[in-house]
Amino acid sequence: MQNKYIIAASVLAADFSKLGKDIENASGADWIHVDVMDGHFVPNITMGPMIVEAIHRSTTLPLDVHLMIEEPEKYLANFAAAGASSLTIHVETSPHLHQTIRLIKNLGLRAAVALNPGTALNTVLEVRDELDMILIMTVNPGFGGQELIKSTIQKVKKLHEILNQGTRKQPLIEVDGGIDSENIAQFANVGANVFVAGSSIFSHVQGIRAGIRDLQDALMPVRE
Ligand code: DX5
Ligand code: ZN
Repeated sequence: MQNKYIIAASVLAADFSKLGKDIENASGADWIHVDVMDGHFVPNITMGPMIVEAIHRSTTLPLDVHLMIEEPEKYLANFAAAGASSLTIHVETSPHLHQTIRLIKNLGLRAAVALNPGTALNTVLEVRDELDMILIMTVNPGFGGQELIKSTIQKVKKLHEILNQGTRKQPLIEVDGGIDSENIAQFANVGANVFVAGSSIFSHVQGIRAGIRDLQDALMPVRE
């Protein structure tokens, strides 16, 4: 059965001293989400193509690579070579958004665009037909373990309504930041279909597998 909902486990919350093991335990997720931060666009520095390549060797799951970096166009080919399945660029870092999306597609990858909580939805609508996915940030990017910004539920609802008008191709709607078993269904109910979760998976008291199961169980009542 094809899953209607996709759980993307964010390794930012994993224990990096045993990253391979943590990723193995996250095999019940649908995708592995990798947060790349440069210390410029966001106030944190995380991982680059070398780590993506190591993660790629540790799992058969698709790698959903979230680029929170300035000038992302310079690094797209490196992340593609490292094994990324999808690349997400931020609208705030990409003055030539259409062109950068085309570069991702030309590398044979799924292309996605992310919007910070303070960025208006209309910034992405001009390029929607080029996109496989739109990422609505539900926290300000930079760190895991932050509290959800609740107004983003309405933002997702509005985006879903806009995308639903007409018969055009529907990009997936991904949410990222502060997602847990208490709030995930609220996002599913307003049209989100890809759920990034870091802390609620990797810091779950009963372990990583239980963290993924809790999220899947919370989606059961809304699963069609
Ligand atoms: C935040 C990152 C998220 C982060 C989510 O800037 O984009 O992917 O890992 O972590 P949690 O689920 O802990 O909020
Ligand atoms: Zn992310």
